[in-house]
Amino acid sequence: MKTAVVTGGASGIGLGIAERLRNDGFHVATLDLNPPEDDDFAYRADVTDPAQVAAALDAVRAKLGPITVLVNSAGLDGFQRFKKMSFEQWQRVIDVNLHGVFHTIQAVLPDMLDAGWGRIVNISSSSTHSGQPFMAHYVAAKSAVNGLTKALALELGPSGITVNAVPPGFIDTPMLRKNEQAGRLGGTVEDHIQRTPVRRIGTPADIAATCAFLISDEASYVTGQIFGVNGGRNT
Ligand code: NAI
Repeated sequence: MKTAVVTGGASGIGLGIAERLRNDGFHVATLDLNPPEDDDFAYRADVTDPAQVAAALDAVRAKLGPITVLVNSAGLDGFQRFKKMSFEQWQRVIDVNLHGVFHTIQAVLPDMLDAGWGRIVNISSSSTHSGQPFMAHYVAAKSAVNGLTKALALELGPSGITVNAVPPGFIDTPMLRKNEQAGRLGGTVEDHIQRTPVRRIGTPADIAATCAFLISDEASYVTGQIFGVNGGRNT
């Protein structure tokens, strides 16, 4: 059995991916700021802190063996008019969404290189297709994740490691509902459904299904791709 680590696995999309990979027969450990107490495979770590990431991943290895699958779903959004955005706000959002991905990939890469096989999936955002007002830091970070994905795919392909990104559209998670309540979506979820060609909101299971494919042996010829899952809103 292969061992997978999902960051942000305590909520929303990350939780859905962890469940799916468990059902598909992987050993799955999650890393999160707020891990559930009752899950022996859930580890507390802030992905912006390389020491916390290393300690959590060492604990995962001790229990489950080398980590050859990594899904980066931990994310932090933020809403601020650019004119009013402080550098601290900018930096925290970049830190979680971009530097967190740097730290986790660096930490698991030796296992994948030793195995001659690995799968990395980075959850970015459909805002990288379309832009999003008041989210300059977030869109910049997620766009950088897409770029990182392409560069690493070229670098790591010869070592049997694929690297892909999944930019989700509107997915029904606590993050989305929090933003709906705060009036930050530019309309209700129902308004967005009407603007979505397939006329529904996405679910964590939609993203998990795509990740499951990208992680499978069947997807060994798919790398460096930005694989949009958005109900047709971004083509
Ligand atoms: P969520 O807020 O439900 O889950 C995010 C998880 O990441 C939480 O459990 C949180 O504790 C964890 N997290 C945040 N900062 C962390 C840190 N520094 N270290 C470790 N864990 C941390 O959000 P959701 O909706 O599940 O989002 C998952 C990913 O999908 C994020 O990267 C988000 O940006 C992205 N996304 C979500 C969309 C949506 O419509 N829900 C749309 C586009 C992208």
